[in-house]
Amino acid sequence: MAGGAVARSEGTSQHGATEGKDTAMTHPGSSQTLPVIDVAPLVKGGVVPPQVQTAQQIQAACREHGFFYVTGHGVPTALLDELTDAGAEFFALPAQDKMGIAMERGGRAWRGYFPVGGELTSGKPDLKEGLYFGTELPDDDPRVQAGLPLHGRNLFPAQVPRLRDLVLAYLDELTRVGQSVLAGVALSLGLDAWYFADGYTADPTVLFRIFSYPPSPPDAGGWGVGEHTDYGLLTLLAQDDSGGLQVATPDGWVDAPPVPGTFVCNIGDMLDRLTGGWYRSTPHRVRNLSGRPRLSFPFFLDPGFSDEVPPLPRRAASGDDGRRRWDGQDLRAFTGSYGDYLLGKVSKVFPQLRQDVLDG
Ligand code: OGA
Ligand code: NI
Repeated sequence: MAGGAVARSEGTSQHGATEGKDTAMTHPGSSQTLPVIDVAPLVKGGVVPPQVQTAQQIQAACREHGFFYVTGHGVPTALLDELTDAGAEFFALPAQDKMGIAMERGGRAWRGYFPVGGELTSGKPDLKEGLYFGTELPDDDPRVQAGLPLHGRNLFPAQVPRLRDLVLAYLDELTRVGQSVLAGVALSLGLDAWYFADGYTADPTVLFRIFSYPPSPPDAGGWGVGEHTDYGLLTLLAQDDSGGLQVATPDGWVDAPPVPGTFVCNIGDMLDRLTGGWYRSTPHRVRNLSGRPRLSFPFFLDPGFSDEVPPLPRRAASGDDGRRRWDGQDLRAFTGSYGDYLLGKVSKVFPQLRQDVLDG
């Protein structure tokens, strides 16, 4: 798919700021064009023929779009409904209550609330506020004791006490779904189904966010979240019925509208790197034109913090066709662990926090 993305990215800055030009390439109101894949055969486990078929669908989706919808995941509707209610209740609180769990208070764990404009995904402030969560680790965990960034306790709001259990249950459920989808990804690459679960995601980096995007005025520029790719292996996104998510394709931007009961799944930079570019992490962005706040729930299942992710030997040479990446970055040039990569990214989108937490 990235043939078009390349042509498109040629004239853009390092940050992929493509305002104006891209708006013209948007297909307003276009229907959903991304494939829907039933992952029930993977969720149930066992390498049987239906699983192989699912893996073929995943391969086609990853090669063509880097994005697909998943059904058959088994996450109870009630869990997401309650999480949505609790999330909306939190964002409706007075600003000073929300700031009671501001990210600055999360310290090195990098958890908590940030207000609208607090995150700069593509070098400019995003039109969204949000809550950052991750694996809940107690203070006596060795990694927390060692002061490893992004590890620690979550910050939960006292005003919405049910959010804690809901978030922790959601992390468990989505980790399970993500591992199943990764089993399909592994099969799609000719690997053992448990390649990830026994390796990169045996002790995964798990990040979860709840975002609230205020409505964007129709004629204003600016993005809820600017053009970017995700950093790790796999993202599973739940979104409310507002719409506004757009995905880069060779023909320009297409909408990824809400499809009830599904998650939008996309691959991140580490799968791109692992496959030597055979699977590409696909740029996407959000503008909320619904006229009301938009809630979304991105969940990230990523390699262990200290894992290095070199290209698979079989893919190293075959995958890359020399296409330039959307932001000009060469993923192969990076050396270090996934944690190093993630920290580099997060420091860019939260520059103030880098100064306070990492450099301080
Ligand atoms: C992200 C992302 C999309 C959304 O968090 O990486 O692309 O709809 N989110 O919030
Ligand atoms: Ni994203």
